[in-house]
Amino acid sequence: MKGIILAAGAGSRLYPASLPISKILLPVYDKPMIYYPITTLLLAGIKDILIITSPSDIDNFKKVLGDGSNIGVKFSYAVQEVPRGIAESFLIAQDFINNEPVALILGDNIFHGFGFSSMLKEVGTRTTGATIFGYSVQDPERFGVVEFDKNGKAISIEEKPLQPKSNYAVTGLYFYDSNVVEYAKTLTPSARGELEITDLNKIYLKNNNLKVEILGRGFAWLDTGTFESLLQAANFVQSMEINTGMKIASIEEVACRMGYITPAQLKELSKKYKQNGYGKYLEKMANSI
Ligand code: G1P
Repeated sequence: MKGIILAAGAGSRLYPASLPISKILLPVYDKPMIYYPITTLLLAGIKDILIITSPSDIDNFKKVLGDGSNIGVKFSYAVQEVPRGIAESFLIAQDFINNEPVALILGDNIFHGFGFSSMLKEVGTRTTGATIFGYSVQDPERFGVVEFDKNGKAISIEEKPLQPKSNYAVTGLYFYDSNVVEYAKTLTPSARGELEITDLNKIYLKNNNLKVEILGRGFAWLDTGTFESLLQAANFVQSMEINTGMKIASIEEVACRMGYITPAQLKELSKKYKQNGYGKYLEKMANSI
């Protein structure tokens, strides 16, 4: 399975903080935001990842992440010239996808919760249909919203409905079979001028080929779209990391746990950050994995 991270938005809601650099490279506590979606894909067993950025940011992403070989994976890069919607990713990435199943995650989506790794591992093996994730929120009108029948089967999806039919937001993580590129080609721009991911999901729903996994109450799906929510996300990560002594979304550690690099390679990587707690943590993990 291939993976795509869409990291192309202007991030204007975080100006001036995100004026000099993409929002997706801003820190969430101790690491750049993009480490979190990368970790999600790695945990799904995905090693071949395309990062879609805006034209002005591509070099910064390359500087931060390189080609991925240091953590045993492959990063490549593509540009979305103008923000024409999430579903445009599949047109931009057509050659990269190469008729394989593919997962897409939005660069600012942070997931954390018990059982998520095993859920991802299982979803990452699905080769037919689509899988999306529902999460109960207070303000569903800001999101794609999925409605269920009495048996818990998804029956409708609407993008930012004025009168949401449920509290379940569709999160920014999507798994599709190899039909996704052909379906994306049939989409037309919405009123806001975008190729909507919700329209793509509706095709799978209509074909009876859409699974919706629920992320339950103990789960954190964090927003980073405003100054307040970005700081809250950082505080959440800090508090979890301090309480548990384990880091959330350390891509180097996850790569080692997934067997993409050896503990000896992890130890080598830790030297780059040896002057701080991040490096000391990697060294400790290298000695214990
Ligand atoms: C997008 C999708 C929406 C989804 C949300 C998740 O919203 O269109 O369906 O619920 O991401 O973050 P947008 O960021 O385009 O407002």
